[in-house]
Amino acid sequence: MTLPSINPEKLSSWSKLKERYDILKDVHLKTLFSKEASRADKMTIQWEDFYVDYSKNRIDAETLQLLFELTKETKLKEAIESYFTGDVINETEKRAVLHTALRAPKTAEVFVDGENVIPEVYRVKEQIKEFSEAIIKGDLKGHTGKPFTHIVNIGIGGSDLGPAMVVDALSYYKNHLTTYFVSNVDGDHVHEVIKKLDPETTLFVIVSKTFTTQETLSNATTIRNWFLKAAPENAVSKHFVAVSTNLEKVKEFGISEANIFPMWDWVGGRFSLWSAVGLSISLSVGYENFEHLLSGANKMDDHFRTTPFETNIPVVLALLSVWYNNFFGAETEAIIPYSQYLNQFATYLQQGIMESNGKTIDRNGNKVGYQTGTIIWGEPGTNSQHAFFQLIHQGTKLIPVDFIGFAEALHGDRDHQDKLMSNFIAQTEALMNGKTEAEVLEEFKKQNLSQSTVEKLLPYKVFEGNKPTNTIFIKRLTPESLGKLIALYEHKIFVQGVVWNIFSYDQFGVELGKQLANVILKEFSGQSESLHDNSTMNIINFYKKSRN
Ligand code: F6P
Repeated sequence: MTLPSINPEKLSSWSKLKERYDILKDVHLKTLFSKEASRADKMTIQWEDFYVDYSKNRIDAETLQLLFELTKETKLKEAIESYFTGDVINETEKRAVLHTALRAPKTAEVFVDGENVIPEVYRVKEQIKEFSEAIIKGDLKGHTGKPFTHIVNIGIGGSDLGPAMVVDALSYYKNHLTTYFVSNVDGDHVHEVIKKLDPETTLFVIVSKTFTTQETLSNATTIRNWFLKAAPENAVSKHFVAVSTNLEKVKEFGISEANIFPMWDWVGGRFSLWSAVGLSISLSVGYENFEHLLSGANKMDDHFRTTPFETNIPVVLALLSVWYNNFFGAETEAIIPYSQYLNQFATYLQQGIMESNGKTIDRNGNKVGYQTGTIIWGEPGTNSQHAFFQLIHQGTKLIPVDFIGFAEALHGDRDHQDKLMSNFIAQTEALMNGKTEAEVLEEFKKQNLSQSTVEKLLPYKVFEGNKPTNTIFIKRLTPESLGKLIALYEHKIFVQGVVWNIFSYDQFGVELGKQLANVILKEFSGQSESLHDNSTMNIINFYKKSRN
């Protein structure tokens, strides 16, 4: 079974949502709260250690009803079953989409081409466990007999962003190993990392699903050449391991079969941190913590698959995003974690969300007539408050924001935590309520300002408010809660792809630039000549004259 092709614009719920938008577009959130005092009690989902309050959104019960009707008309329930049971929902690449199988219990059964993949998933998990424990304990050593002290993950996109984000997010749980990530083909990236390494005590993890990616192969080659200046050829097998589906290419690179951690084509790169792509995570925080991350994601999978949509966190958040994207015309969404540990969270989600849902052609092969993928951006609070919050508060654009916070501080500093949380809570209140003219005048009164100053300053000091936010409040940042949080956004992506009638799991849009780069690269060395437009030709020539 594949996903059906249903044009959402043709659905009756879609037309009714348009009408609902006309009614609600000028209604202030304050009015919605004043109409219904217990609004937040109804619009909060408490699940395990998650507290998700979506009441500060420009919706009412009727809008929600229509959004749920939209899920019926787009056959979301059936689509979720297809997703979890291994149907070929990545139709354009003829693949199942089964990152959920990577965190399923050992007793689960998930079939791909008639074969249950769970035993193989657990075999590789065992390989990850044994290897990471041996490296962490120092049982596996470098070629001169010294234990490893440094890990370098060489990969890009999904083979970098997920592990890099998680290792950073879980730095509180980190062991003695220092982990670096090399991704960019920019040689200055790899050479800056090399500066910090000792070839006797560094383990290199080359991660590439396809093992054909220019960036990763270039970085791996540069590192291997550097390594071989200090070590004999037979030391490579002690210091280099690979994660890939392409065993042939890995072997060609000189890595022996015993050092390969397999993955499967039914795991998309941007959803692969749960597979052996997460090897650097397991090495950095220990296998047990890696398991907790997976079991958190599995709990979110169960929640998503079995909970009625009305209290289903990924479904509700996805529908709210559709509401703003398609009816309010919001172009972007901000994701603001109030935790420095989640510094890379928005960057990580940019690939997941924008590579998945940045599509124009629907599941019927036609151009869509409505907006799809949202643009995601964000930085941790409170830093972002001092950077771009001005625009969210008083700019002309509507930017729905997810506020993510953790009630407990890992280092237990109550003074800092209270300050952090007061900001976390105050911002959503401020964005919703704004500040009226009357309130500003009241403040001016206390400042004894002249009448002319008051008149001049008044319009600038008013905050319209009515800015929508979700509060995703979690008890504590643990490997398990992080797993739940990541899986929440993965499922949000899925729901939106279903509603927008697009294929979320291919990424053909990244190919064209890669192809042209290969053409231009050959021109640099005079191997070929091509015709380009005047601008491109001039830039190529400028580079050829200027490079060192
Ligand atoms: O950017 C395109 C992409 O194919 C991503 O989807 C993927 O995560 C990344 O490149 C890296 O690919 P690979 O793991 O095959 O090196």
